[in-house]
Amino acid sequence: MSDCRLRLPLALAVMALGIAAVRPAAAAGDADKGKVIFNKCMICHSLQTGVNKIGPSLHGIVGTKAAEVPNYTFSPALMKSGLTWDDATLDKWLTNPRKLVPGTKMIFPGLPKEEDRQDVIAYLKQAGS
Ligand code: HEC
Repeated sequence: MSDCRLRLPLALAVMALGIAAVRPAAAAGDADKGKVIFNKCMICHSLQTGVNKIGPSLHGIVGTKAAEVPNYTFSPALMKSGLTWDDATLDKWLTNPRKLVPGTKMIFPGLPKEEDRQDVIAYLKQAGS
């Protein structure tokens, strides 16, 4: 009998723990996970200042205006975009660069999972600061 009364609170406690564990990652992005996702970007991007590869250095990119990294030749499309790389814009860009900026030369299919995008943005902030 007492066994039966225990089961529901226990189930609720487990659920609450699960929710608590998931929430912070979904809201803010996990830089450690983002570091792993950044492997997909590393073929074209460095996080070191002044190191441009196929794409520009992404050091300190969050909060800056698009197409302003020195000594890198951007596409006319990105230069004319007038974008600022805040969280919301980066999220759209990383979902599908060519949808946000038609004509961009960043040939990347995008990260379909919101969690992956949030994690990599968190990593860009941490590693590029
Ligand atoms: C195949 C190469 C390639 C890959 C992979 C790639 N990028 Fe890019 N990226 C570029 C190029 C090229 C540009 C310049 C785009 C332009 O001028 O239109 C760019 C531009 C950018 C910019 C804008 C920079 C600025 O100064 O305005 C950001 C931010 C960015 N990439 C982030 C990422 C992230 C994050 C990833 C991984 C999830 C990634 N890129 C993957 C090639 C790549």
